[in-house]
Amino acid sequence: MSSVERLYQMALYSGFKVGAALECKDGTLVTGCNIESSSYGLTICAERNALFKAISEGKREFTRMLIVADTNQLTPPCGACRQVLWDFAPRIEIIIANLEGKQMAFSMTDLLPHPFGSHLL
Ligand code: THU
Repeated sequence: MSSVERLYQMALYSGFKVGAALECKDGTLVTGCNIESSSYGLTICAERNALFKAISEGKREFTRMLIVADTNQLTPPCGACRQVLWDFAPRIEIIIANLEGKQMAFSMTDLLPHPFGSHLL
């Protein structure tokens, strides 16, 4: 089975395949894809998958995240991912891209201008 076919198995219900590559401050790259559940709401996005993998491996500082989908229109992170990225990586650069090389870059302040966070608890 090719890696693209394996990725399709993980997006079995929507067929919408997303990949994320998270650059940690120490230079390590941690990747993630979206993994879907038959109970659709339990699906995890590529972005949170990569971030949680990195955190569970002890990474705490992050510089950039590249998010890629094979779509003409670029795929920005969903609201849930924006919140979690803000919580763990408020100064990260987010780059969204497609397979044709079209790309855009954002700060977390661009993506989540009035965030909820630990400062309010
Ligand atoms: N998805 C992501 O992985 N990242 C996003 O930023 C948007 C949505 C996934 C979740 C689900 O598996 C599929 O794309 C369709 O929503």
